Amino acid sequence: MKRLVVYYSLSGNTEEAARKIAEKLNADLLKLETKKRMPKSFAAQILVGGGQVMMNRIPELIPYETNIDDYDDIVLGSPIWNSKGVPAVNAFLKDENAAKKVTALFFLSAGGDTKKGLDAITKKLPNLKTTVSLIDKKQEGSRNNDAKIEEFTASVGKG
Ligand SMILES: Cc1cc2nc3c(=O)[nH]c(=O)nc-3n(C[C@H](O)[C@H](O)[C@H](O)COP(=O)(O)O)c2cc1C
Repeated sequence: MKRLVVYYSLSGNTEEAARKIAEKLNADLLKLETKKRMPKSFAAQILVGGGQVMMNRIPELIPYETNIDDYDDIVLGSPIWNSKGVPAVNAFLKDENAAKKVTALFFLSAGGDTKKGLDAITKKLPNLKTTVSLIDKKQEGSRNNDAKIEEFTASVGKG
């Protein structure tokens, strides 16, 4: 079973989780990046990123060399923006072949409320089995992330 962890991360939280998850699952990593860069300040990120989510904008990704056909299974990671998954992940999921391979999903958020995001993304992931909600490291709740990652990867590893 060849596995790929695909993720987007603006401020490093999803990236940190993606690396831990990939290591535990012996998976490769693919970081999604948009052609148009996000602004540096958090206030501007909220305006631009929040606006993109609200308008359902699908940004252009920087082309990646990873061949999705080489993989049997995808674990997908996204920060929560405006209660939903990020536009870059929606851009990746335009590839229906890739969307079908996603069996597990991890979200990073400040508040941990991922219901709206999960509802929106689940529609695009017909084979999704396992999910976990992790918390930004600036928040108290993040101290449970490692235990949650352990449980998540154990469940994903069993197939
Ligand atoms: C544009 C934007 C919108 C956000 N909206 C939410 C939100 O609706 N709910 C929430 O809990 N956190 C929200 N956050 C916080 C991020 O989900 C959180 O900081 C996450 O850990 C970021 O992951 P990253 O470090 O991989 O980019 C938002 C952050 C940004 C930049």
